Amino acid sequence: MKPLDFIDDALADLEARGLRRVLSGPLDKTVVNVCSNDYLGLTRHPALAEAAARHGAGAGAARLIGADLAVHRRLESRLATFKGTEAALLFSTGYHANVGTIAALVGRGDVILSDALNHASIIDGCRLSRAHVEVYAHCDVADLERKLVASAGARRRLIVTDSVFGMDGDCAPLRHIAALARRYDALTFADEAHATGVFGERGRGWVAECGAAIDVQVSTLGKALGCFGAAVLGERRLVDYLVNRARTFVFTTALPPAIAAAAHAAVDIVDSDEGDRLRRELADRSRALRAALGVRAPAGTGPIAPLIVDDAERAVDASRALLARGFFVQAIRPPTVPTSRLRFAASATLERADIARLGAALAELDLQKEAA
Ligand SMILES: Cc1ncc(COP(=O)(O)O)c(C=O)c1O
Repeated sequence: MKPLDFIDDALADLEARGLRRVLSGPLDKTVVNVCSNDYLGLTRHPALAEAAARHGAGAGAARLIGADLAVHRRLESRLATFKGTEAALLFSTGYHANVGTIAALVGRGDVILSDALNHASIIDGCRLSRAHVEVYAHCDVADLERKLVASAGARRRLIVTDSVFGMDGDCAPLRHIAALARRYDALTFADEAHATGVFGERGRGWVAECGAAIDVQVSTLGKALGCFGAAVLGERRLVDYLVNRARTFVFTTALPPAIAAAAHAAVDIVDSDEGDRLRRELADRSRALRAALGVRAPAGTGPIAPLIVDDAERAVDASRALLARGFFVQAIRPPTVPTSRLRFAASATLERADIARLGAALAELDLQKEAA
């Protein structure tokens, strides 16, 4: 036996349960991507490539070690203005932003109230913080309130939630959550990863659309903004504190300048008439995609549309069958989600004709649903 032999058993176990993940690799044919987070199609926008080309590839060091560049400062100030907050602080990824910020805000003796379907990076931030974690039922404000009442003795309390849930596409009841936080003197944290650029006036996000007072917002730059990285947004003192205490900010190389410049160009587009046009197209494609899937959703729901196929192997088979018919959609399985599914997502750049073809392919595979 060699020390790494345990890996063979672990992989065989995942394989046997239909849960082994493999990278799809570059495909040998052109297919239509129906699961991307590039909601507005900005990843290939020429303005982003042009902005990136005017800057270097790497920052060369951490922000606190000489790489606090003008391009970072400009993007932070642009993001803060866009989101209507006092300040913003860039992080290398949304994962870094969530982990570092949660762990900086709470610790032993504190309580985190976390939605049951929060993203893995929030869950990891909660674990790393060493605070006591109370998971409340998904979007269930009555359960949240019960847990707030029960945790009255805590030093500090932090309510943390995705704004828009990346695997289900539903939205957190942020106004209600903010009201509870005020009543019970808790901090609020909302992850706008799937909301920025998509929801709210000029794409300002779900927090803005709800008009909710949220203490800490995280916004990724890698989804509707078409780039990479993230920002934490809130009061100036929050940013000053994170510069000192968020280890995933302090001990890592600053965002590449080319990416920061591209992200700035992306915010300019999102916050413009062109952005409004792209959002109208996205809303149209989201409706068409849901119709093709046979999935009903409340009006105003965004681009994410899961099709539950509650058997991991069947979900993978369905994904393969769709690939053979020219559509790329990833099967998402436990432990990422509680129930296996094909996680579809619309994009402003999806052609309506392709969505119609997808509907026909789903009908052929007998995969359409009548779901709420
Ligand atoms: C809700 C949510 N938060 C955070 C992240 C992580 O962001 P990033 O990809 O920038 O690390 C993701 C997805 O990747 C997400 O869906």
